[in-house]
Amino acid sequence: MQMILVTGGAGFIGSNFVLDWIAGQGEAVVNVDKLTYAGNLNNLTSIRQNPLHHFVQADICDTEKMAALLAQYQPRAIVHFAAESHVDRSILGPGAFITTNINGTFSLLEASRAYWSALPSDEKAAFRFLQVSTDEVYGTLSADDPAFSETTPFAPNSPYAASKAAADHLVRAYHHTYGMPTLTTNCSNNYGPFHFPEKLIPLVITNALAGKPLPIYGDGQQVRDWLFVNDHGAAIREVLAAGTPGETYNIGGWNEKTNLDVVHTLCALLDELKPKADGSSYQTQITYVKDRPGHDRRYAIDARKIERELGWKPRETFETGMRKTVQWYLGHQEWIADVQSGDYLKWVEQNYAGRTAATEPQ
Ligand code: NAD
Ligand code: TYD
Repeated sequence: MQMILVTGGAGFIGSNFVLDWIAGQGEAVVNVDKLTYAGNLNNLTSIRQNPLHHFVQADICDTEKMAALLAQYQPRAIVHFAAESHVDRSILGPGAFITTNINGTFSLLEASRAYWSALPSDEKAAFRFLQVSTDEVYGTLSADDPAFSETTPFAPNSPYAASKAAADHLVRAYHHTYGMPTLTTNCSNNYGPFHFPEKLIPLVITNALAGKPLPIYGDGQQVRDWLFVNDHGAAIREVLAAGTPGETYNIGGWNEKTNLDVVHTLCALLDELKPKADGSSYQTQITYVKDRPGHDRRYAIDARKIERELGWKPRETFETGMRKTVQWYLGHQEWIADVQSGDYLKWVEQNYAGRTAATEPQ
């Protein structure tokens, strides 16, 4: 029986990918996740009893364990999501990003190379290692720069982005040097169900519903290119199935929005779907706070290569995706309560306590 191995499949994007894979592909998945603060088995409740899903709690930095899992499950492909993924955490504590994103990817590559080298020649040719990465490796754009393409030079600005860039370089080197059939995807900001509420969109929804301030860093005019998470999963499936080994594919939503636009959209949706008892808008909770150090001004993805070569383009518009997202959070209060545990509260205190609040940009 064929199967794939996914790392980080209990996190936001990985769990959405695994759920869609099980529902649509009928092929087994071994899901390897350390279950850090960001990993959540509640994301996978609907496939807990599904025989196509094998969950293993393990650290990608443990090369021997990775080698043992590859020998045991014999996957035809690896889709590598596992990472430390939050820029603000990388600013307050970069060490974990170096360990997991760089050393962990290296350790997984080494275990994969040993496994792949020993495969029979037809399986060796068909094997794929897919590195899931970010547009943040390309750095920042000014308002009139063209969007990031696959040939834009890397210029990462945060410890998170630098650690992902390093991992992308290692993956590239394993293709160039050893001939390992690797693929890399660099995607823009995702949003959707199961998004941990430390990131902008789920933080704003959950804070709004809890009557708390909606913190805008700096002037709120930073631009991100938003993509609904299931569209990202569909793009990864296309690249895995038909991408050319050694190639990179940029994935984006063609949805450039300022942070303030995003927050206004969320407030309007919440005003419609869950109006406040006093009749006021959630917009009254918007608060300007001190900016993120080294804050990238604009990200934008030129996603023409993946559309031209693999026929992928996003299905959700910003409007349909955001509505689905807000509806999902409104219907999953228990999931929210569960992730907002002691550790989460400590993070909120650490990240926001030193940022004085104001009604105008600071
Ligand atoms: P996430 O933080 O929600 O999930 C990361 C998952 O990896 C968690 O389940 C965590 O337990 C697991 N993990 C962390 N360290 C591990 C380790 N050492 N060993 C095994 N598992 C470990 O992240 P996400 O937002 O789902 O992002 C997934 C991937 O997609 C990352 O590689 C990220 O760089 C990339 N990406 C994210 C976005 C985005 O907008 N979130 C955009 C583009 C690319
Ligand atoms: P985030 O969701 O952390 O993603 P990334 O930094 O990887 O793009 O942040 C998205 C944007 O929202 C980014 O410009 C930072 C901004 N932001 C705020 O203004 N306030 C917040 O409380 C957070 C978490 C983010």
